[in-house]
Amino acid sequence: MLRRLHAEQPESFAFTPANLAWADAQITKYPEGRQASAIIPLLWRAQEQEGWLTKPAIEYVADKLGMAYIRALEVATFYFMFQLKPVGSVAHIQICGTTSCMICGAEDLYAVCREKIAPSAHTLSPDGKFSWEEVECLGACANAPMAQIGKDYYEDLTAESFAKILDELAAGRVPTPGSQKGRFAAEPASGLTSLKDGEAGKPAHNATVSRALELGDTVKRIDGSEVPVLTPWLGGAKAAAKAAAPAAPKPAAAAPAAAKPAAAVSATTGTELAKPAVLAVARGGKADDLKLIKGVGPKMEALLNRLGFFHYDQIAGWTASELAWVDESLEGFKGRASRDGWVEQARLLAAGAETEFAARARKEGLYDKDK
Ligand code: FES
Repeated sequence: MLRRLHAEQPESFAFTPANLAWADAQITKYPEGRQASAIIPLLWRAQEQEGWLTKPAIEYVADKLGMAYIRALEVATFYFMFQLKPVGSVAHIQICGTTSCMICGAEDLYAVCREKIAPSAHTLSPDGKFSWEEVECLGACANAPMAQIGKDYYEDLTAESFAKILDELAAGRVPTPGSQKGRFAAEPASGLTSLKDGEAGKPAHNATVSRALELGDTVKRIDGSEVPVLTPWLGGAKAAAKAAAPAAPKPAAAAPAAAKPAAAVSATTGTELAKPAVLAVARGGKADDLKLIKGVGPKMEALLNRLGFFHYDQIAGWTASELAWVDESLEGFKGRASRDGWVEQARLLAAGAETEFAARARKEGLYDKDK
């Protein structure tokens, strides 16, 4: 299948602030110089935010990771999970067309899609609410035929039950995922013949369906406010244990404040870490020359830019917890920000004053080399 970018593209793309915080956290998983390894999760997040992967989004992610656009385009066009055309504003329907599902009636589901959505796959319905495609096995073969809608699986489908699901979604409701024939999980369709001990106290839904109902985000776009950003890999054992602890029940209505990254702790000093405010791009498209700060060479400046720091006043405003966060985030250079007194230097530079190092660097064109 030929996969090309859509002919019509939006003007621009930017992560929501919460998704940006999430993306910045993902990048810190990789060592200095290997940030491109975050390409797939970041592209996926961009798609989760917008529904499909636009050219500006691909380029935005490439810029963020310091990659050539063609490298990011190679990834986006190679993997079928990336949608390169607009998808339905309500839902993009993915119907499994592999053996079990095909034998059990996937063709009937395609017929419903052709009638209710569009005659061919990857085409928007007339009202723009739906699109559909055939996909390979989604691993729910025992409950065939099935479809993935948004984040959840709808199983044991018939043309009738599937059509009803589409009607419900079009009406703004989200039908209960899971088996549409009343099966609890993947037990025999005729019922259990053994291991029937737990039948009496069985809940109404299996854990997957219960969780989907609890979250209620089957077809919701991801804006980053869903869960706090956890970075146990930056916080050492204490934060890792915290991340591994059972999640607290999700509040009924997530407050915007939930997007704030969870506090972690410095593995070396035990100081609580607080992520400073970051920018997606330099203000006015012009970054300060951070290399005028002693201890910042070209590599370090690139790393700081990737983390969202472009200006002296940003660095000058770091609190102790924020400085600790930056120190922990400087993969390969941990502790450099404190050691070289970046905040004090940045305060002078932001105020238009000069430091001895900056004066020398300007005069001699010498910058600190990254080691
Ligand atoms: S064949 Fe359809 S989920 Fe495996």
